[in-house]
Amino acid sequence: MRIDILTLFPEIFEAALKIGVLGRAIAKGILQVNLVNPRDFTHDRHRTVDDAPYGGGAGMVMTCPPVFEAVESLINQNSLEHVVLLSPRGRRLDQERVREMAGWKDMVLLCARYEGMDERISQTLVTDEVSIGDYVLSGGEAAALVVVEAVSRMAPGVVGNWESVDTDSFYHGILGYPQYTRPPVFRGKEVPPVLLEGNHEAIRIYRRREALRATWLRRPDLLQNLSKEDLKLLAEIGAEIPPSHKENSS
Ligand code: ADE
Repeated sequence: MRIDILTLFPEIFEAALKIGVLGRAIAKGILQVNLVNPRDFTHDRHRTVDDAPYGGGAGMVMTCPPVFEAVESLINQNSLEHVVLLSPRGRRLDQERVREMAGWKDMVLLCARYEGMDERISQTLVTDEVSIGDYVLSGGEAAALVVVEAVSRMAPGVVGNWESVDTDSFYHGILGYPQYTRPPVFRGKEVPPVLLEGNHEAIRIYRRREALRATWLRRPDLLQNLSKEDLKLLAEIGAEIPPSHKENSS
């Protein structure tokens, strides 16, 4: 997978792309991330990328020419299907959307600064607008990093042990189960004994029950299409599930 990131601040990404899962995926060549600065596509002495908004108002707006030239230079190198603008006006990112994006061969992520980008960029260049939540950041960079982290995690080969993706919160539509490691007792708090006993089926059921418990307590809206086993486990923990959430109880 190839991800181009268009940003006025490439240095924001540099450390994050060197470490952990992302760093290894890039080193192995499974993931290619290319940072492009629209300032490199300006033609004036001051390397201007912004201007005052028509109609007045606070702040500055990123201008069309450097963004268009930067994206067009990428299109000339590769065929590009997805040009994604990070924006609080975009469609809210969730795991389903992340999974869909992980199937894309390539994408360009456009990071806006100031009061945003000239609307003609969204109208003509952008194929998808993504928001990471209902709050406003000072720029798209942190949001782009969220997209790169979440999407690359789902791309084949990026996370060495698929089981760890499989147990992520949201991967199966509910929150993840709690994890423990040594020591077995810490300041009087014990690790649940079932995890120490080596009975894999009992561990599977325990984990499913705890994932369902966490979801019921924190995000009951996620409890949809429950299996018979899930309903039984929820009954065991005394959860009350509205009938509308019991759709797939086969
Ligand atoms: N840029 C500013 N705020 C944002 C948000 N919530 N999501 C994506 N990009 C943004």
